[in-house]
This record gives sequence, C-alpha cells and structure tokens, in this order.
Amino acid sequence: MKAVVWHGEGDIRLDTVEDPTITEPTDAVVQITRSAICGTDLHFIRGTMAGMVEGTILGHEAVGVVTEVGSAVRRFGPGDRVLICSTMSCGACRNCRRGLTAQCDVANPNGPLAGTSFFGGPQATGPVNGLQAEYVRVPWAVNTLIPLPENISDDQAILLSDIFPTAWFGAELAGVHRGDTVAVLGAGVVGQFAIASAFRQGAARVIAVDGLQTRLVTALRQNAEIIDFNAEDPVQAILDTTQGIGVDAVIDAVGVEAQRPWAGPAKQAGDEQADQFDAERSQVAPKTNVQDQNWVPGDAPSQALQWAVSAVAKGGRIGIIGVYPPALTSFPIGAAMNKNLIIKMGNCNHHTVTPPLLDVVAAGLFDPTNLITQREPLTSAIEAYESFDRREEGWLKTELTVS
Ligand SMILES: NC(=O)c1ccc[n+]([C@@H]2O[C@H](COP(=O)([O-])OP(=O)(O)OC[C@H]3O[C@@H](n4cnc5c(N)ncnc54)[C@H](O)[C@@H]3O)[C@@H](O)[C@H]2O)c1
Ligand SMILES: [Zn+2]
Ligand SMILES: [Zn+2]
Repeated sequence: MKAVVWHGEGDIRLDTVEDPTITEPTDAVVQITRSAICGTDLHFIRGTMAGMVEGTILGHEAVGVVTEVGSAVRRFGPGDRVLICSTMSCGACRNCRRGLTAQCDVANPNGPLAGTSFFGGPQATGPVNGLQAEYVRVPWAVNTLIPLPENISDDQAILLSDIFPTAWFGAELAGVHRGDTVAVLGAGVVGQFAIASAFRQGAARVIAVDGLQTRLVTALRQNAEIIDFNAEDPVQAILDTTQGIGVDAVIDAVGVEAQRPWAGPAKQAGDEQADQFDAERSQVAPKTNVQDQNWVPGDAPSQALQWAVSAVAKGGRIGIIGVYPPALTSFPIGAAMNKNLIIKMGNCNHHTVTPPLLDVVAAGLFDPTNLITQREPLTSAIEAYESFDRREEGWLKTELTVS
C-alpha cells in the first residue's frame, strides 16, 4: 500500500509498504477513505518533537471502513464505517474508566508510566504506524474506533478525528462558561475550532491572536475579534479591550512552534528575549533539517505561554492544547503564581470527548467542512505537507482523499 513515511527530520516520502495485518486479538484493520495533515505532524518533520523512529507511517486523523477484526473485538465488524480517534485507549483501565483516555495505562507499549499513545508519533508514544496510508492496524479497536452514523459524510467526519474534539477539550480545560471573554492564541485550524467551541460553551467574546492575516480573517468570519501580533502588542491590545483586566480565559492553540513578532510594537520585547528563545529551540529541537523555506522550527517556543499568562485576568484560567514536548522546561511560573491562575493542559481524551460532537454535526448545528481548505489525493501528500509547512496563503487544513 501507499503511505507517508518519516525517514528523518526534513525527510518524508510517499513509500510503498506492506499492508498491515491483525497482530493482537484487540486489533482491527481499517481501509482509510479520508486522512488529513495536522500541525502536530509538522513538529516531527521540523524536529521540535524528537524521538521519531525511521520507517514510522505519519498521520493520526482518519475515517474509513473496517476490513478485519481480531477475536476480542465484539463491537465492530467488516464493513462498519468508522472514525479513528488520534489517541489509543483500552477502555478498561482506571484512567479510561474515568474518561482520561489519553492517559490510558495500557495502550502505550512503553508501559503504564509512558504518556499518551497516538498514531504516527515518536518512539515514546508507541510508536504506532499512522493514518496517512491506505490501510491501518488499529490497536484497542473497541475504544479507538467510533461508529459513524450514515448522516455524517466522510468530509464532515474527518475533522472529528482530532481537531474539533481537541479544540472543544481546550475550551473545557480553560473552563469557559457563560459570559466569558476568551482569548484564543493561534488561528490555525485548532484555534479556529477553539473559537467555535468557546462560543458554543458560552463565551460572550472571543479574541483571536495570530500573525497571519488570512487566518485572522477566517477567525473574523466566526465572529471573533482579531489581533495581529505583527501589527499590535497582543497583550496590550487585550488589556485595552478588557478595561485593563485581561481576559477571563485563554486557550493556547499554538504550541512549541510559536513565533515571535517580526514587526510591530511587540517585536522589541521578543528580540530582547532572543537568547532565551534560541536556547529553548535548541533544547526542544536538537536536530533539524531546514531546506530552503521548509521545516523551520518556530523561533520562540515559550512565546504563546508568556502571552497567555500576561493577557489573562488575575485568577483567570488557561487551557493549553498546543503541543509542547517533554524537552521544553520553560514556563513563566512566577508570573502565573503571582496572579493565582488556574492552568490545565493535555492531549485530548478523544474517545470520551468526541461522541457528543458527532451529534452536533449530525444535527446540522455546526458544519466542520467550512474549515477544510484543501483536498488532495494521498499521492500528493508530500507537496501538500510542504505548502502547509510554509503556511502558504489559504492552506489552513488539508484533507487527503485516500479511496
Ligand atoms: N492537545 C492535543 O490533543 C492536540 C491535538 C491536535 C493538535 N494539537 C496542537 O495544536 C497546535 C495547533 O495545531 P494546528 O494544526 O492549528 O497548527 P498550525 O501550525 O496550523 O497553527 C498554529 C498557528 O499559531 C500561529 N502562531 C505562531 N506563533 C504564535 C504566537 N506567538 N501567538 C499566536 N499565534 C501564533 C501560527 O501563525 C499558526 O496560524 C499544534 O501545536 C498541534 O500540535 C494538540
Ligand atoms: Zn491532529
Ligand atoms: Zn485504558
């Protein structure tokens, strides 16, 4: 079969590889119909999430049809249309049973103390071959798969594999409730869904911060107020529009690839921290492979975290869903302590967060397809990765058509 394979930092290829088979009784094999490229995938190629194993198939978002199941899979059978959750979970351990499926004690082959296990990630997450492929072996199929109702199309379902649940979870982590003013840092596709989620969870105002105009325009279309960090100091702008109080809650949808302003009034403060940001970047990305304009790691790993702490009100809340690798150790803990902040973070518990969102989409209350900007065949995946990585105008979210 064809699959997108990680060979090294800055080196991914569309390879022909062996079809997967059932290896455990709890497995299923799924023929993938739609896959997608995620901002998380970029971390592995830029080198900001280290520890990838050569030969790992990338991708953790997909929709497909079950072709085969192991003997312990009672819930699914061949022909079932399914959504594949990005994270794997057994459904039986103590954490799965309390809804913390991203911290399943069993799914990660590295043992119960290892963190989240997800498709197409570094050694510490499995590694488990991913979903930018024609077929996939799905471990712990009963929990990792979600049945898809007929009235949800593949196009509608693909962003429920990771993006919508992650953003919803981010708004929950930030404790968004009725009347809140919420800042969403990052207007990538996760940020866009975080805006939608914050409004649905009761926010009265949502302020989106990014440095890319086209993404801010998309946020504006969702009724967010927008701040371009290359034109304004985002923290000052937030204080100015909240009577100097700050926002009630912040959702960090940026993560480790954060950039510092390259223009505008906030540039100087970023430049003054250049040494610290450079040190952070070397810490998280010891090995990079920049080629021309591709695979350049973000130049200010802790920038979004700093802005989150500065822009939130005293006693406010921060929900962090932008990914930070274990290698990043800097966080403005003193400033956060001094403001009595509540800070929550983590990988989405897809298995428990997603089902109600399927209902929202099935009922026609929210159409996630509006945020898919590109549809490419799997055979064009490498070129699509390159365009997305360069943040080419309009490349917000790429769906890959597989079969
Ligand atoms: N926790 C989870 O379960 C989970 C799941 C999926 C994705 N993620 C993470 O969410 C993050 C966003 O994903 P995406 O697909 O939207 O990625 P993306 O790269 O498309 O979007 C990131 C956005 O942040 C903007 N940005 C950069 N520096 C910034 C700054 N200092 N302040 C504000 N905005 C800034 C960029 O311009 C870009 O628009 C990634 O880190 C990804 O790994 C987490
Ligand atoms: Zn993803
Ligand atoms: Zn479990």
